[in-house]
Amino acid sequence: MARASRRPGSAPANSENTRLIALLDQFAGPGQGQRFLARVLDTADNTPAIAREIARSAAFQRLYKEARTADIAGRAQDHGDAAFIDIPALDHNQPFEAQFREHFRPRLGKRADGFGMLFATLASRHPRPLIIETGCLRMPGNWEGDGQSTFMFDAFVRGGGGHFISIDALPESIDTARRACSSAANLICNDSVAGLYALSQLLAAPAALIYLDSYDLDVDDPLPSAVHHVLELAAVRPLIGSGTLVCVDDYAVGGQQGGKGMIVDKFFSSIRAQVLYSGYQRLWSVP
Ligand SMILES: C[S@@+](CC[C@H](N)C(=O)[O-])C[C@H]1O[C@@H](n2cnc3c(N)ncnc32)[C@H](O)[C@@H]1O
Repeated sequence: MARASRRPGSAPANSENTRLIALLDQFAGPGQGQRFLARVLDTADNTPAIAREIARSAAFQRLYKEARTADIAGRAQDHGDAAFIDIPALDHNQPFEAQFREHFRPRLGKRADGFGMLFATLASRHPRPLIIETGCLRMPGNWEGDGQSTFMFDAFVRGGGGHFISIDALPESIDTARRACSSAANLICNDSVAGLYALSQLLAAPAALIYLDSYDLDVDDPLPSAVHHVLELAAVRPLIGSGTLVCVDDYAVGGQQGGKGMIVDKFFSSIRAQVLYSGYQRLWSVP
């Protein structure tokens, strides 16, 4: 059957097209539907390229945000999502110590002993701890690579009480952590130095644990990461009191000592902080 001829750049008017144009107007903005339908019908432009152009429009962004953010009442999660981080469902009546022994520790590789010491010390000294972390869970299930610390801190306070705050500059990392953790985890999307400084002005009690694991370490050029982590320490200083535990991840990497904690360590050795653990991570107790 011959197709009706039409002016290039305008889709023929019929009731089906009118509905398609109205639909495309929703995605691409008022008055844009006709133009996009004509491009699909009249040109050889590939459809993924057209779809990407629509996805960049202000109308699409607005529609996406509306659809993703409406009706979220009652979204608080009682438990973390174990399947999301690649472990079997947890028994939520099991104490944290048993969860750590059975599910977390065997997956932690080079961080197993460091986290073992950290959680044992936390449990014995700080029954309802305030835990503050920089750099949150960005890759679900990456136990050996990153550690999944955010999930474990969430599990610790979810079961035993206390408060947990984690700060990350990237919405993508915050999104992953939000999906993995329960509502016991409070996630802040901001640069860690700015976020820690704000917390230090707002909170009164010293923290039980500060876990520093943000700015990635480049083993060939460790200084930028080491400087960032000492800036974090400066920003959070008012929340560090006697007995506060401070732990830095990626401390001994590739046979070199220091890593993310190279300058933090100089400060702590100057004030004679007790080193409770030194390995892939380094853990201090503040005098
Ligand atoms: C190594 S990952 C953290 C891993 C996490 N602690 C875990 O165990 O799964 C580092 C994270 O730090 C974040 N980051 C890097 N620079 C930052 C900064 N200046 N402020 C806040 N977060 C930062 C990155 O977005 C990334 O998500």
